[in-house]
Amino acid sequence: MIELCFATNNQHKLNEVSHQLGNSFVLKTLRDIGCTDELPETSGTITGNSGQKANYIWTRFGISCFADDSGLEVEALGGEPGVDSAHYSGSRDAQKNMEKLLEKLAGNSNRKAQFVTVFTLVLHGRDAVPVTHQFEGRIAGQILTEPRGSGGFGYDPVFQPDGHNRTFAEMSEEEKNGMSHRSRALAKMIAYLEKQAY
Ligand code: IMP
Repeated sequence: MIELCFATNNQHKLNEVSHQLGNSFVLKTLRDIGCTDELPETSGTITGNSGQKANYIWTRFGISCFADDSGLEVEALGGEPGVDSAHYSGSRDAQKNMEKLLEKLAGNSNRKAQFVTVFTLVLHGRDAVPVTHQFEGRIAGQILTEPRGSGGFGYDPVFQPDGHNRTFAEMSEEEKNGMSHRSRALAKMIAYLEKQAY
């Protein structure tokens, strides 16, 4: 069975990913491999940061691994907060980040946005040459004028996916995970992994 380390310290993501990965792979955590380092995220893009984190683990620990990076892209703000989603307001406070977003969009009728996730997979290839692939997932929706719901995290209370009349924060975890950017990207990665002959 393929052993894969998920380069995250977020327990919530670990649970979600291990549930979706099923039993065909052995999922290792950063703690399992003895990594206590802060992973680099300095590239300036979601795709770049995802790659940086996975490549860091591969380079330091030589284990097949994957990493994710996500963000919210708002059309009227030229793709902001994007790679800065986690600390848009200058702090990691989700409430403050949402407030800043709603202030910037005040009076703007274009509320189009999308969540984006990029997974980077680095697989131990032949002769220890790593094989790297990236998988992207998106979900389109609208930014509401005020928050609704208490579930989820981050920008969930102000994001309503297209085709629905509830925000991510008003959905059960299961319902949100069934359509989220992260689960879509992950489904692509799993489909790729399942095609690999080991
Ligand atoms: P990460 O790279 O997955 O940690 O995501 C970076 C930031 O994007 C988070 O701190 C949130 O602010 C935002 N974000 C990513 N995914 C979601 C989501 O599913 N719901 C709400 N906010 C999210």
